[in-house]
Amino acid sequence: MDDIQHQFVKNILAGTQTSMRECGSAFAPSNIALCKYWGKRDAALNLPVNSSLSISLGDLGTRTEIRPSDADAVYLNGEPVALDDAFAVRTLAFLDLFRSEFGNASFVVRTENNIPTAAGLASSASGFAALVLALADLGGWGLGGRMLSMLARLGSGSASRSLFEGFVQWYMGTCPDGSDSFAEPVSKPWPEFRIGILELSSARKPVGSRDGMNRTVETSELYKNWPAQATADLETIRGALFARDFQTLGKTAERNALSMHATMMAAWPPLIYLQPETIEQIHKVQRVRADGLEVYLTIDAGPNIKLLFLEDNEQAVASAFPGLQTINPFG
Ligand code: DP6
Repeated sequence: MDDIQHQFVKNILAGTQTSMRECGSAFAPSNIALCKYWGKRDAALNLPVNSSLSISLGDLGTRTEIRPSDADAVYLNGEPVALDDAFAVRTLAFLDLFRSEFGNASFVVRTENNIPTAAGLASSASGFAALVLALADLGGWGLGGRMLSMLARLGSGSASRSLFEGFVQWYMGTCPDGSDSFAEPVSKPWPEFRIGILELSSARKPVGSRDGMNRTVETSELYKNWPAQATADLETIRGALFARDFQTLGKTAERNALSMHATMMAAWPPLIYLQPETIEQIHKVQRVRADGLEVYLTIDAGPNIKLLFLEDNEQAVASAFPGLQTINPFG
């Protein structure tokens, strides 16, 4: 598996020259999928079963700084992280793919998240995207977005989308070597588009996305329907984006997220990321919508809810959902 990833990285970097600087740093936004990525067709190259489409969260995300050093060290939000902690293990395993480019260096990595880590707010997405951009900065690689996106994909699938602002599509690709599975911006900015984060729990989720999706693919009967549904949903969402048809976009994104959760619940052991508070808020979204407020929801592999609405309804949504953190992704 490592050899396949190493070779993939080598192929991507083949046309570039690494000229090591003292320090590399970068920011990458977090993103929320409107059509979800759920399931891998190739674990080593992190190739998805279906294409996905997301919106990046503007200035919410991860800032990462990386320096070559004599020994590895990882800091998260200013605090040193034990090297056997899951976060450090995953970060260092990713860096292993790049060490030979930098004279087999060790690294000091400082990561600052302005979103809760692993609370279903896609911090691994912005994390690996920022890490790839920081490495590219450190090495002076002049790589384009597609190439950087494919490198970030090896760290985390959703990270392939966090290289870009606004609406982003990750094309699943068809090549077995993974060379056509990258993300790219799609559609123009939609300045009225708003996302509301209802943070219901910041606890670490018991089963991460990676294990969760593998379990779903292996054991859920309902998963059989997922690839076709995701493909259809993505087309509908793309069409709605180009037509600025918010209702169709919201409906499709909400149904896509709840369908993904249905596939998870049908896995064994069942995967139930939704908490009692989550269910309560799902019902509330349905109630306020029945009362005429145009608001939709999406949920990732965690208990938190993200609301989708337009600027005109910002006040109304904020008063219906106290504690909501509203994000203007194009602000
Ligand atoms: C539910 O990108 O975290 O957020 O590729 O295994 O690292 P790995 O998975 P990850 O999964 C994200 C799943 C999701 C849906 C999405 O963001 O598309």
